[in-house]
Amino acid sequence: MAPAPKNNALPKPDEQTVDSILRPSGWDDYIGQDNVKRNLKIILDAARMRGEAVDHLLFYGQAGLGKTTLANLVAKEMNLPIRITTGPAIEKMGDLAAVLSNLEDKDILFIDEIHRLNKIVEEVLYPAMESRKLHIVIGKGAGARTISLDLPAFTLIGATTRMNLLSEPLRSRFGATFRLDYYNHPDIEAILARSAKILGVKATPGAIAVLARASRFTPRIANRLLKRARDYVEVHKLKEITEDVARKTLEVLEVDPLGLEVHDRMILETIIDKFGGGPVGVNTIAASLNEDRDVVENVYEPYLMKLGLIRRTSAGRVAEPLAFEHLKRPPTGEAGKPGKSLF
Ligand code: ADE
Repeated sequence: MAPAPKNNALPKPDEQTVDSILRPSGWDDYIGQDNVKRNLKIILDAARMRGEAVDHLLFYGQAGLGKTTLANLVAKEMNLPIRITTGPAIEKMGDLAAVLSNLEDKDILFIDEIHRLNKIVEEVLYPAMESRKLHIVIGKGAGARTISLDLPAFTLIGATTRMNLLSEPLRSRFGATFRLDYYNHPDIEAILARSAKILGVKATPGAIAVLARASRFTPRIANRLLKRARDYVEVHKLKEITEDVARKTLEVLEVDPLGLEVHDRMILETIIDKFGGGPVGVNTIAASLNEDRDVVENVYEPYLMKLGLIRRTSAGRVAEPLAFEHLKRPPTGEAGKPGKSLF
């Protein structure tokens, strides 16, 4: 048996439990993405009124923006169980058949990273989504035959960070598609304030502002920074997260005030220091970082563009004036031309 905690204190929940405590458990707790919430609520209310399963839903957007959280909220709102799996976990036709044949009426099946399903599995999914049929091939070669099983009415919720990798036949079988965008600054501040309250740590408005600014407009990152600031407060026996604590936490994590990490800064430095502000091709940037082009384009660049630090042009990537200012470099090239400055 685990030793009893001293001073009658409750045992501290571990990191994973903390993450689930911070997850909103109802629409009222869910901050931001108002458009998505409004439209989803109509779909759920209508399904509830008709007594039908919710139509298949597709959520897409950058990592950490709350796709899984939303899927859980849909299940909670409908008072239905949710089965959770991921695209890469369903390797063979039989894996999907096992998942589908275990579903019950109106169950929700959540497939994260659905763009990573392989083609064979995808083709089993089409008739399952469209007409609730599971076609299973039995045997091999000339003796192979297909049997068809009826499935209960179920709801597939797919989530992806890479909409362009989803095949058109799969995409078109979802009844509604929702794009989750970066959160705005006030919403991230509100999420941080809510999380601080749940974690039982005080944070000054200035500290919340500093953490929010470095959160890449992403709740998961905001909560991660908050947890590290709380560690700092506890280790140094302080009373609250102040602006100074928030800044020191970022310094330790090598996150700058705009939320840029080492790789983000390397991209800016490559464009500005090695290529005079650009334009420079994405392959060249990827090679100088020793990263996949795919990662540069889909993980790093969206945030740099959102901040207005870089721009994609047909000739390559160009650093914006803000990037020169952020790295404290004198503007050159496009950024140095009169009339181009943002300031
Ligand atoms: N934690 C993660 N995402 C959240 C959200 N959208 N609202 C409140 N807390 C969150």
